Amino acid sequence: MITVDDLAYVRIGTQDLDTQIEFVQRIVGLELMERTETTAHFRSDDRYQSVIFEQGEPRSLASAFQLRDQAALDAAAEHLRSQGLEVTAGTAEDCALRHVRGMISFVSPGNNVVELVTGMTQVVSRPVRFTRPAGITEFGHLGLEVPDVEAGQRFWSDNFGFLISDWIGDRACLMRFDPVHHKLALFNEATGLGHVNFQVGSFDDIMRSWNFLKKQGVKIQMGPGRHPQSTAIFLYFYGPEDVTWEYSFGVREIHGEWTPRRFDPTLPDFIDMWQGALTDGPTWSEDHA
Ligand SMILES: [Fe+2]
Repeated sequence: MITVDDLAYVRIGTQDLDTQIEFVQRIVGLELMERTETTAHFRSDDRYQSVIFEQGEPRSLASAFQLRDQAALDAAAEHLRSQGLEVTAGTAEDCALRHVRGMISFVSPGNNVVELVTGMTQVVSRPVRFTRPAGITEFGHLGLEVPDVEAGQRFWSDNFGFLISDWIGDRACLMRFDPVHHKLALFNEATGLGHVNFQVGSFDDIMRSWNFLKKQGVKIQMGPGRHPQSTAIFLYFYGPEDVTWEYSFGVREIHGEWTPRRFDPTLPDFIDMWQGALTDGPTWSEDHA
């Protein structure tokens, strides 16, 4: 079994690095830690980075988790290979790009590239220089789209020991590896909810951001609302190239016994206790076509 310590980062491809940088700084509010000719690294907390944009095809490139040390990474590689997966060791160049000491990658169900890293640089000597007071406290969770959510769940439970927090029909499985209700969400493609989440410090932060985003003409995907599963108050919005961002506040922690629940996606409050709808209207890319 592979033990994950925490989320590491997501890597996202972009055809227009400058536009992404402008949006992330002006709207999302993350600190630009580093800009190279082809990459931009954004910090949200003690991690050197939680988001890396890379010039190229506009798509998700990888989702990464932190492992304790090199021995854990070696054991993870061996375990995954024993399960028939192809595991690639990161080169020195790969590690340098990601500010990690060691890295392996593999393709998880749904064709999602996953990177396991160790020794990612932490920045604890100074606070994050947020570029907007969104109230961000932490990189919260990530979503992966999979064709078969149950098969995806089995993969993450069997190989990584991730626990099931809740099901949303057969559309989504919310999984945890520490007390936080979910740090990995598996969605089938139909949901279109692949997104990058940041926790914020208060309900007021959510509402202030909602007004700010509307004033800036940013497309809201959903919210403000409240997830019945995690009890988190959420706000989803689209950035360039339809990268979906989320702020949320008040995620449930699970300590001790917990029985996964199943939510019915045909009911109006299956994902929002306040029964808000997914926003109709164009996404960012439709609007800029
Ligand atoms: Fe989320």
